[in-house]
Amino acid sequence: MTDHVLKQAVEQIESTLSDSAKKPTIAGFFDEATYTITYVVSDPATSEAAIIDSVLDYRANSGRTSFASADKIIEYVNSNKLKVTWLLETHAHADHLSAAPYLQEKLGGKLAIGQQITHVQNVFGKLFNAGSDFQRDGSQFDHLFEDGHTFKVGSIPAISLHVPGHTPADMAYVIGDAVFLGDTMFMPDYGTARADFPGGDARQLYQSIRRLLKLPRETRLFMCHDYKAPGRDTYAWESTVGAQIDGNVHVHEGVSEDEFVAMRTARDATLDLPDLIMPSVQVNIRGGHLPEPEDNGVSYIKIPVNAV
Ligand SMILES: [Fe+2]
Repeated sequence: MTDHVLKQAVEQIESTLSDSAKKPTIAGFFDEATYTITYVVSDPATSEAAIIDSVLDYRANSGRTSFASADKIIEYVNSNKLKVTWLLETHAHADHLSAAPYLQEKLGGKLAIGQQITHVQNVFGKLFNAGSDFQRDGSQFDHLFEDGHTFKVGSIPAISLHVPGHTPADMAYVIGDAVFLGDTMFMPDYGTARADFPGGDARQLYQSIRRLLKLPRETRLFMCHDYKAPGRDTYAWESTVGAQIDGNVHVHEGVSEDEFVAMRTARDATLDLPDLIMPSVQVNIRGGHLPEPEDNGVSYIKIPVNAV
């Protein structure tokens, strides 16, 4: 069966690669507290920009949020005179809170995530016993992407790819010749994302990754996280399809689906949950908004005891 969406992505990337004036400018901002990279992707021709996977600083011990990471993004956007049109989330992150509402208030832009967020909202809505006022229809976001939605960042064409496996809702965004991978692959020397969260599936993750690796070898790939790797002492977040095919320690060419699933399942069994999973999920399924304040005006984060 022909994958028409992938074919369209390949054509977009090839056309961008043949004319470097059409390439987006990409700035990565690394958050060392959560190992997350936030990207500002801008079109040099129009100065329009997308912000991908922003981070709200959060102290788990005091329940305090702060904005130093988000303010760095705002400073970059303002000093480069960019106009933000999109705030993209690759998925509902389990390791950091999104700063999208704060950035939207200051900079504008439409907040978007994958359509399957409704599934994630259902699963976690149940776990956290969210009341009936918690909408599970994705309406906290301005736009829900399906596989193959096309959009633009200024004059640069973009397309969304549904890449489930880490979560059911994971999206990758192909903007010009650059792909923002979300939690699929990490740097070649580190491997791949875990697939053991509710709704995660190692087999789906393998298939999503194989699909991404059918893109042209020169395609620029931008990771959602980096944790360094044995023998590497600096953080890194940019790779290419060719480098991943040749050298990704989990999914290089020749690794079969069954081999990958066995490796991923065994490795996931050794991983602890992320420190910020409880606050992150409760906030991120609400589009980055805190749960509704109680009658004293304070928002609360719940922790289900002995339920996970
Ligand atoms: Fe994630």
